Formats: sequence, structure tokens, C-alpha cells
Amino acid sequence: MAEDFDVPLDETTIYHADASCCAEAMFHDYTTAYSEFLRDPDGFWNNIASDLQWFAPWDTVLDWKFPFARWFVNAKLNITHNCLDRHVSNHRRNKVAVYWRGEGGRERILTYDHLYNDVMQFANGLKSLGVSRGDRVCIYMPTVPEQVVAMLACARIGAIHSLVFAGYGAAALNQRITGAQAKVVITADASVRRGKSIPLKPIVEEALIHAPTVEHVIVLRTQSPPVSLLPETEIDYYELMDASPKGCPPEEMDAEDPLFILYTSGTTGAPKGIVHTCGGYMVGAYYTCKYILNITDNDVYWCTADPGWITGHTYGIYGPLLVGATIFMTEITPDYPDPGIWWKLIEEYGINIFYTAPTAIRMFMKVGEEWPDKYDLSSLRILASVGEPLNPEAFVWFYEHIGKNRCPIVDTWWQTETGMHMVTTLVGEPMKPGYAGKAIPGVVADVVDREGRPVPPGQGGFLAIREPWPAMMRTIYNDEERYRKYWKNGEKPYYTTSDLAVRDHDGYIMILGRSDDLIIVSGHNIGSAEVESALVSHHAVAEAAAIGKPDPLKGNIVKVFVILREGFEPSDKLTHDLKYHVRQTLGPISVPAELDYVTALPKTRSGKIMRRVLRAQELGMDPGDISTLEE
Ligand code: WT7
Repeated sequence: MAEDFDVPLDETTIYHADASCCAEAMFHDYTTAYSEFLRDPDGFWNNIASDLQWFAPWDTVLDWKFPFARWFVNAKLNITHNCLDRHVSNHRRNKVAVYWRGEGGRERILTYDHLYNDVMQFANGLKSLGVSRGDRVCIYMPTVPEQVVAMLACARIGAIHSLVFAGYGAAALNQRITGAQAKVVITADASVRRGKSIPLKPIVEEALIHAPTVEHVIVLRTQSPPVSLLPETEIDYYELMDASPKGCPPEEMDAEDPLFILYTSGTTGAPKGIVHTCGGYMVGAYYTCKYILNITDNDVYWCTADPGWITGHTYGIYGPLLVGATIFMTEITPDYPDPGIWWKLIEEYGINIFYTAPTAIRMFMKVGEEWPDKYDLSSLRILASVGEPLNPEAFVWFYEHIGKNRCPIVDTWWQTETGMHMVTTLVGEPMKPGYAGKAIPGVVADVVDREGRPVPPGQGGFLAIREPWPAMMRTIYNDEERYRKYWKNGEKPYYTTSDLAVRDHDGYIMILGRSDDLIIVSGHNIGSAEVESALVSHHAVAEAAAIGKPDPLKGNIVKVFVILREGFEPSDKLTHDLKYHVRQTLGPISVPAELDYVTALPKTRSGKIMRRVLRAQELGMDPGDISTLEE
């Protein structure tokens, strides 16, 4: 069985960040902070939530009826009131909220006051299109300030936003628009990537062919001559905004009202619309930005994740705005025009906190330290990582060449479903390369066997979360059954993460990877089922199986095995066509790097593809228990 294995706990070198970088740590030491939380969990969250402004207080902090939680029961709030009004009414009015950099040196700066006014005016624009509380709005935009405005404008009026990463293809976008039954789609004519403009609107047009709920499409037009719009359904972003009144009071939301839906790939079937709520999510995002990332008032903070992912939601936008930070954001990829560009930006903007992903770090490692060495990185105080395991080699390189042996590296383990950080090493605590760390105060984590019993140090198991936390997903949109599957009721209830992990004798947790068929490529979740159905939708393909294959740069690549239909022969041309077909359907990140033609696939007697067997065969490993394998 997958969980029944030992992991050698090798001696690890322990790293201590320089005291000067840890002086602003919010927790003095882990043990004290954690035991204070355990003594009174409700009191702990009550105190954090009390830092924020609420229109009406909660009756109780938590109402937990397995597997459904309600946090801050009956409290009323609006997250944008805490992200904007709270700051413009005090000393942060003219503080920079967002520095944005485009390719070719273009820069935009939005103060808190500016952002506040834009959000309110755009919110009125949405209202004029008939969008109101509870309606779903799909946002399919490049990384530009208008994307932030669009999100916050939805939240202002209680509409539920559903962002779709602008790299997704038409079929994937259609599935997410129809899944959420969106009334409005907000998009742009094009996005800019590596000096090229990539049209987005044609993808939206294709995605809308079978999307009956969509009434309006708002288009941010950046190109000249401007793309033409269909007068009945399409409207220009700024024409809508300019025609709308200024000033829009925040909608009073219940703490448990949905704030957003964010789709994440599952191992089977359609993607899951993870639902996060207004109150608990706000508290989780605020808490972790302040206590885990340690963002303070004078910091310039850069999270490199696109707002289309959960990291972009919690740590690109909501969290830093809740703590009143200055956000740096950019559409610039790490390698264009050269692999020094991100370090150049850190120097230029004096970035203090830099939150990125292992795949980017490994890319930088490969091109060499001569790139960061050209720039002054002394403004950096804290480094952070997310998305997949930060392997020890990448940790050490990041620590030495970017952090200059001074900055702590906060390796944060969490998920779209958890909404906020769950496991990491607090600023100031000893760091162990390869280990994410321990459950943060507020979270109870465990490593368990299939029955939910804790396993001893050194024995592999499943990472589990024992207690509810405020930013946890509340359900899967229109699929409560799928939500229930995340929770198990063993001896004690727990949330299943589907990650494999091992704990050492100090309680540090190492994440070993997924226990299911989710493939994590460059930190992005790819569902094997999605890739397979994209392939099978091509007329030449009879059957397909997708697996993840370890890759030194991307963590994993997608490898597929394809059975062709009668009358089709394998060829380089067909391989190219199939990859192109996946790109058009799902988008570039899901394109298989390797494609093999086969005549049969290993299956269970009930007909399920045993991807585990393919994976083992690919890696030259023991396939494990194959008693269910068909003859
Ligand atoms: C999966 C969740 C949470 C934002 C980004 C991804 C993997 C995430 C780490 C980490 C090892 C990690 C897990 C997890 N993962 N962070 N620090 N160390 N693995 O969100 O797309 O929902 O993916 O990403 O496998 O289950 P997501």
C-alpha cells in the first residue's frame, strides 16, 4: 500500500536566518505560540478576527457539525471594507497599494485611495449590468491592475467571482463558466507574454458558444486599433466604468456568504469549484500575511503567483491588502528579456518580501547565480515558497544566492481548498531543507495511515488536518457529495489532503508528493482525467492515460499513453497534432511533454486505468499490489 513505507530520516543541516531579518517576527517562539493556541482555539481566532472591522459581531467563533463548519456565526462584514475603506480612513490613504510593471518598462501605480475609487466605480458598473449579490462573475484576465479592481468590485457588491487563469483554453474556460453559471464574464482583448501579445477574446468567444447563462462580456481593450465589440452583449471596460457613478457602499455580507469560487482540477471528472466564504477566509488571509509572511507597513511585497490561482487570491491580493501592504505585481515572466529581470525588479522596487515557487527557483539555479549577482538584493528580508516540495538543493541555492545567508525561507504548504497556509516554518525558527515545517498556530496537522491513525516519525503516511480552520472551503459548488469526501471520520474526524508526508523526530513535516492521480507541473494542478478526456476528444484517439513523471525543473511533466483508433498510425505529425489539440482544449500548461503510442493500458477488472502501474513501469519501480489488474 502506498502509505506503508519508511522514509530514511537523514541528518539534515539546520539553517538559522540572520536575527536582523527575524526582528519583526510576530511569534516569539513556536512552542509558546502553539500551546497558547491549543489552550483556547476559539479565543485565538477571536483575537485575530478582532483586529478587523465588522458591521456586526459574531455570536460564536465556530459552529462545527462534521463535516460542515460555520465560522464567526452571524457576523456581518465586507472584505473590501477591510482591504480599502479601513485604510483610506487612516494614514494609508495615499500609500501605494499596487505597483504594476508591464513588459518594456511600463509602470502603473495605484494608491489605496485610487484603488478604492476604481473599485467602487467599477462595482457600480457591474450593478448597472444587473449583477447583484450572489451572482457569479467569471474573470478571465491577464495580470493587470484592472483584474484586481474587477475582483474587489465583485466582492464590494456581494457578487461571487470565479477567476480562471488566462492560460486556460476554450474548453476548460467553458467548463468553468457553465459550472459556476456565470452571468457576466470580464476579460481583455489580449495578454502580453515574452514580447508577444496573445489574444484572449477569441478564446472567450469560443468558450461562450454553449454558455447560456452569460448575459454580458466586459472587455478591457488595450490594443490599437481596438477590437470590435458586439453591441448586444459586449461592453468596453472603461466605457462601463466611466458611465457609472462614483462611490459605492459595501454590501453587508454574512460571514458565511460565499466570497468566491475557484476551480481546481480533480483526479476524476469535472474540475471542482472550491467555495470560500467572506468571514473565515478574510481572517485566514489576514492572519497568515501578518503572522506567517510577516508583512509590515513599510514593506514592498511581491508574490509572483498569478491572481488566477489561490496563491494569487490569498497572498497576491486579499491578504496583503488586508494588512495594508504595498503590493508589487507584474506580467513579466522570469526569463524575459533575460533571466535577470526578476532580480532587477527586486533591486528597482526595493522588494522586502518575495514569495515564489520551487519551479522558478530551479530555473534560476539552472541559468546560474551570475544573474542575481548583478543586482543589489539587500532589500530582501523574507523569502517564501509554495506549490510543490522545495527540494534541499533548491532551498540551499535560494538561501545562499538570493537570501545571501540572511533571509528566512518560509516554505508554505497549503491548498486551494485550505485557503490559507497550514504547514510551514515560522520566521525565526530553525529551518530544515526539504521539510516544510510544522502546523502553524491555528492548525492541527497529523500524518496518518489509511485508517486515520497517527504514524510514528520516519514512517510515511497521509497528511491530515484534525480540526476545522477559518479559511477552509465550505463546499464544492453544486457538489456537496464531493466536499464530504474530503473528510473522514476515523477515531477522530479529519480532513484528507491527498498528500503523502513524513514527520521527523522534531515534528517537522516533509511533503513527499500526491497520493492520487493529480499531476503537479511547475506548481500547477493538472488532473490526469482532464488531459485524458482532452485527448480522447481527438478523432484519432481511442483511449489515453496520463501520468506525472518526475522532472528536475518542473517537478513533474505530463506523460501520456495513447491507443489510436482503427485506421490511424503513429507519426510525428500526429503527435504534434495531439499536443496541439490539448493546448487548444486545456491550455499550454496541460500539454503532455511525452507521448507514447501503446496497444493496451493496464486496467482493473472494473475497467479503471491503473496509472500507478504505468508510473512504476515508467520509473523502473515495483508496481506494488497488482492483484486487481486485469489479465
Ligand atoms: C497541492 C495543492 C497552495 C497554493 C499552490 C497550490 C502541493 C503546495 C506545497 C509545499 C510541497 C506543496 C501539494 C498540495 N503543494 N504547497 N510547500 N510543499 N507541496 O495549490 O493547486 O491547490 O495544490 O500543491 O501537493 O496538495 P493547489
